[in-house]
Amino acid sequence: MPTPHLVLGIESSCDEMAAAVLRAGREILASVVHSQLELHRPYGGVVPELASRDHVRTISQVVSKALDEAQVGERELEAVAVTMGPGLLGSLLVGLSFAKALAYRLGIPVVGVHHLAGHLAAAEMVSPELRRPYLGLVVSGGHTALYRVEEGAAPKLLGETSDDAVGEAFDKVAKLLGLPFPGGPALAQLAQSGREEAFALPRPRQHEPGYAFSYSGLKTAVARLVREREPLDAATRADLAASFQAAATDVLVSKARRAVADEGIARLAVVGGVAANQRLRERIAAAARADGFAATFPPLALCTDNAAMVAAAGARSLAAGERHDLDLTAFSRLPLDAPVA
Ligand code: KG4
Ligand code: ZN
Repeated sequence: MPTPHLVLGIESSCDEMAAAVLRAGREILASVVHSQLELHRPYGGVVPELASRDHVRTISQVVSKALDEAQVGERELEAVAVTMGPGLLGSLLVGLSFAKALAYRLGIPVVGVHHLAGHLAAAEMVSPELRRPYLGLVVSGGHTALYRVEEGAAPKLLGETSDDAVGEAFDKVAKLLGLPFPGGPALAQLAQSGREEAFALPRPRQHEPGYAFSYSGLKTAVARLVREREPLDAATRADLAASFQAAATDVLVSKARRAVADEGIARLAVVGGVAANQRLRERIAAAARADGFAATFPPLALCTDNAAMVAAAGARSLAAGERHDLDLTAFSRLPLDAPVA
């Protein structure tokens, strides 16, 4: 089918229930994100069972709100795009079951979207100049990976983390510093008043060949410093936050620069929740100016999980002739370079 005129996107892979209406593959008519932060905060992390139960409670309202805001009647929809993995299985199944039932009732196609293809689509949607092939650096709470994104082929994985994801490291270090869940944005804010050079933290695998990442050692290094210096005063906490943020993002910048040179591709998209980090955005932008490549970041609201990106990825795969049957299912693990469809 050509690029569908109106697509409903649904994203429920973790603790956000999101729905969006997208026109012509790019124009966001509505993007509603219902966050469960308050629900999980007392536990200091996402509790999967609570997440899926809350999704069941909120999904109809979130979808209705997106349609209302877009001023689109459900009969005008041409397709439903939904995240099918990777993520929390129970959470994914809520979105997927709802999407399939709605598509069946309306007699329109449903298309399953890989969550990371969604994050990449966020960059493509807002930046028409981001032509394929390009390098896609996916940095989120669950993933740290570098892809070569080709036209007409599955993205090729160049390297990924062998342990923690960078967003996970932000969240864990934030917890060590006594910041409330979710820690990433709070840590970034605290870092603003700290000195990056205060603590010489490791930059794991920065100069190793290839594109493997590792963040558990960096987190452990911060944990050791916290133990040695407890109780931490405000200035030390800010210094630790700034030094950690610098180490965590420097590795990403180095590897991205090297990939641009080695792959001979002068276009880079940085996507996922950690792409909202201001220091990372600034350093990548500076590297792009120095080395002569084009760097793209989605706007902040499209970095963290949302359904507009899912609708965009779905619209693209529908236009490429992909569509799924009602036996489409969810996968907690799902490699991006080996799509099931
Ligand atoms: O993409 P996302 O919303 O969900 C996943 O697919 O994981 O990413 C969430 C992650 C969390 O680890 C959060 O702490 C991190 O992105 N994050 C940030 C910032 N905003 C969100 N990390 C650093 N700096 C930020 N400004
Ligand atoms: Zn995500």
